[in-house]
Amino acid sequence: MKTPPPFSYEVDHLNTKWKYRLTGFATMIVSVVVAATVTAQAPAGSQAAATIPPPSSRSYPAPQNLKVLPKDMTGQQVHDIMKQWAGALGVQCGSCHADDPDNIGPDGHPQLKFADDSKPMKGIARTMYTMTDEINSNYIAKVEGSGVPVTCGTCHRGHLGPEPFTVEPKDAFPSPLEAAETKEKSLASQ
Ligand code: HEC
Ligand code: HEC
Repeated sequence: MKTPPPFSYEVDHLNTKWKYRLTGFATMIVSVVVAATVTAQAPAGSQAAATIPPPSSRSYPAPQNLKVLPKDMTGQQVHDIMKQWAGALGVQCGSCHADDPDNIGPDGHPQLKFADDSKPMKGIARTMYTMTDEINSNYIAKVEGSGVPVTCGTCHRGHLGPEPFTVEPKDAFPSPLEAAETKEKSLASQ
């Protein structure tokens, strides 16, 4: 079994933007349903309780159209990665996944056709995933003692387009002050 690269599972605690979808109300409903399910399935003192998988592990259908992620990933694993991608880029699921006009959700909005490939950004994300995977396996993994894999967030930092990094003059090396001092010394020694 091909194990997914470890960076996919890195929990980036700073990237919590995906939580936009969980309104307080939805969270409450979920908690109530989870509590009710757990109570119903696990009578007090039951040894079997520990072996019952959490309800969420059953709620995501097996993926149908994986081209870059390991094909044996479960729906739950893909979902966890997707939440991280969305958070790392500061976008919503619908940025990469197309609407399904034939499937209107309870909120009156179309559901997303996750297996559909019609949005160009989904294709870019596949390229980016392959790039990130290669950076980790071909380069980062070869750095002795490396323990910090590159993730989408390493570059994107919560933005769709990575922000250009420019060195502020005060952080430049040598700093303007040091440069001036060096010049002074070299002039004095002449
Ligand atoms: C930056 C683009 C991007 C964002 C944002 C994104 N996805 Fe995806 N998603 C993809 C790509 C690319 C794939 C296909 C991966 C592959 O080919 O291995 C995919 C695959 C999936 C699949 C599997 C579909 C199938 O049957 O093959 C599901 C389910 C899914 N995404 C759900 C989500 C959810 C839920 C969110 C929001 C939390 C989300 N995605 C956000 C790009 C994205
Ligand atoms: C090594 C740095 C780096 C990593 C890692 C990286 N990206 Fe990117 N990504 C970029 C850069 C740079 C661009 C902008 C390219 C351009 O528009 O010229 C970009 C652009 C994108 C875009 C297109 C944005 C747009 O404006 O249309 C998407 C989508 C994207 N990346 C998704 C991802 C995902 C998903 C991951 C992780 C699987 C990822 N990236 C990892 C550097 C990175």
